Amino acid sequence: MGPRILVTGALGQIGTELVEALRFKHGDDVIIATDLRESTNCRILDVMDSEAIDSLVQTEGIGEIYHLAALLSATGEKNPELCWKINVEGLDNVITVAKKYDCRLFAPSSIAVFGPDCPDMAPQVTPLNPSTVYGKTKVVGEQLAMTSGVDMRGLRYPGLISYKAPAGGGTTDYAVEIFHAALEHGHYTCFVREDTRLPMMYMDDAIRATLEIMEIPREKLGEARGGYNIAGFSFTAGELVQSIRRHLPDFTCDFVPDVRQNYADSWPNDIDDDVARKEWGWAPEFDLDATVDAMFSGLKTQPTV
Ligand SMILES: NC(=O)c1ccc[n+]([C@@H]2O[C@H](COP(=O)([O-])OP(=O)(O)OC[C@H]3O[C@@H](n4cnc5c(N)ncnc54)[C@H](O)[C@@H]3O)[C@@H](O)[C@H]2O)c1
Repeated sequence: MGPRILVTGALGQIGTELVEALRFKHGDDVIIATDLRESTNCRILDVMDSEAIDSLVQTEGIGEIYHLAALLSATGEKNPELCWKINVEGLDNVITVAKKYDCRLFAPSSIAVFGPDCPDMAPQVTPLNPSTVYGKTKVVGEQLAMTSGVDMRGLRYPGLISYKAPAGGGTTDYAVEIFHAALEHGHYTCFVREDTRLPMMYMDDAIRATLEIMEIPREKLGEARGGYNIAGFSFTAGELVQSIRRHLPDFTCDFVPDVRQNYADSWPNDIDDDVARKEWGWAPEFDLDATVDAMFSGLKTQPTV
């Protein structure tokens, strides 16, 4: 196991901030950021190219992999075959190399593993019958974590709210887009109903959870290792609008649901994260108002998206 750390899908919403946090923690030279596109400090690596993954892991002495390359729910449902290929075959390619070179592996799961039969407050252990292909790929990912023989860990991220990179084609993208529209136009047309309540989290909490889960000795992690429930906070789209109006009193929003409403309706309203709290001390720091405040102060200093 080498000392270096590989990140796939590094230019996405999570990768942009995870790479920054990993570089801060371990030093610039330790982190090898990769994506389909080339960018400053980011190399090209297609996770469908198993030989390229093998060669990079061997030559760079990689000991830990954060596998973020994936298609998200809204993009994935438009092209289910490609979603399956990238999310399952791509993950399998990474697992094969991780096994060969004895790398530890982080691969995110999602609240999309839950289906319409899940209770409103999703327990850690419940039948996983997702109605989306995206959700099915995440269930397979969690199962592979437990059967592949690799030290592989995952978190069931809720919808993530951040300002440093655009949201990547998921059902919870409205909770990011709304801030940009509010600042630029004073108005947003939201693609889910006003009463749609979903679990969400501010990116700082998600990054901290990711670093924390990879620090815990393996023997302390139990059967949820492939996908721990982690809760931030839940809100309806209408409550988000109210919180934004604390900053922009004239902000208006209308609600015109599209197909993404169906995916949102199939997911739970709240997440029970008791197991993560007990096993590795998980606790979120941001609630809705704190997240909205952080988004506005971040967008004022870094209006990148
Ligand atoms: N953002 C969220 O709200 C959220 C919630 C739950 C789970 N997740 C999971 O977290 C992970 C990262 O999500 P994200 O929001 O950063 O996604 P994103 O769409 O913003 O980024 C994914 C990145 O993967 C890259 N990619 C796509 N195909 C690739 C390939 N074949 N090879 C290499 N790179 C490829 C894309 O170019 C993109 O930069 C995914 O597994 C996603 O399912 C995200």
